Amino acid sequence: MNETATLRARAEIDLAALRANVRVLRARASGAQLMAVVKSDAYGHGAVPCARAAQEAGASWLGTATPQEALALRAAGIRGRVMCWLWTPGGPWREAVEADIDVSVSGMWALDEVVAAAMEAGIPARVQLKADTGLGRNGCQPADWPELVSAARAAEEAGVLRVTGLWSHFACADEPGHPSIAAQLDVFRDMVAYAEKEGVRPEVRHIANSPATLTVPESHFDLVRTGIAMYGISPSPELGTSADFGLRPVMTLAASVALVKQVPPGHGISYGHHYTTAAETTLALVPVGYADGIPRHASGRGPVLVGGAVRRIAGRVAMDQFVVDLGGEVLEAGAEAVLFGPGDRGEPSAEDWARAADTIAYEIVTRIGVRVPRVHLHEDSGRD
Ligand SMILES: Cc1ncc(COP(=O)(O)O)c(C=O)c1O
Repeated sequence: MNETATLRARAEIDLAALRANVRVLRARASGAQLMAVVKSDAYGHGAVPCARAAQEAGASWLGTATPQEALALRAAGIRGRVMCWLWTPGGPWREAVEADIDVSVSGMWALDEVVAAAMEAGIPARVQLKADTGLGRNGCQPADWPELVSAARAAEEAGVLRVTGLWSHFACADEPGHPSIAAQLDVFRDMVAYAEKEGVRPEVRHIANSPATLTVPESHFDLVRTGIAMYGISPSPELGTSADFGLRPVMTLAASVALVKQVPPGHGISYGHHYTTAAETTLALVPVGYADGIPRHASGRGPVLVGGAVRRIAGRVAMDQFVVDLGGEVLEAGAEAVLFGPGDRGEPSAEDWARAADTIAYEIVTRIGVRVPRVHLHEDSGRD
């Protein structure tokens, strides 16, 4: 028996697959460096082991959203370039500067705070200026760019910071041929050219996320920032499957069946009785629910490999459990139920769950809760 099979539930994380995916993505963007995006606990896969594995496979940068995520990587002993981009007033700027983290600045309030922190620390900050080239979310608008660039240059001249990067983020890179892709690239080139004319000498210019890395080669510049593709998941079914890109899903989510029992016809199942048994049948109780990140939206639809066949959830997903109708088949309690994985055993994929829950596969893996232990496999890269 697999030594983890006695766990109620587990997310197995195949680090050899993650390293192989990083190599595939590096080959795809061979003229650029690769940033492994490990925000939100590496999309639910475990930030520290995934960051280490990505570095082993040649990722020269790590990226997080929050400074706390970046500082946690440092606290775990992870070295090398780390960048984080989601700041709110109050920082922690000084801690980030002292921990040698590249920080992103989208506006004057942030520049003022990082300048003050760098002066207090007595260490020049490494700052990347973020341009809003059309996403309309974070980033500096073109109209405000001259003021930000000029203030950053002045601080650079004063030795308080170094502008290490100019960067942006796509809105629709997962929609092939979307006109905003070319439009954002044009704006990005203009904003970079303006900053360079003003004397900025960035180490890296970057805009590409996974879909752009896979399908928009002219967006690669000096660095690509890959998240979802590194975890072996296609950014969108429209672009192709993960296998089409040579990527292998990294996470397998499985649970041990808690109970198998026989019930008569006409038996209502789970809250609300949205499923009723058509005939005498057997039921398997799968002990994971929405508290574990199983989407309640997938009630009646989520696919599960159990007893050698893929079956649908019967009735509602509850907080801690759901039920599968085995159609009369008898299994032992403890049998494995595989919700998603790479598909080697015929199990569904995270994309299948995304379809069942009317969401994207990013959300399926990222939302797996802390109650589900991550079991990291193939940590030793020497065997790749
Ligand atoms: C700024 C930024 N860059 C890169 C990424 C990685 O995106 P993806 O997972 O599509 O590669 C994200 C994730 O949303 C992001 O917020």
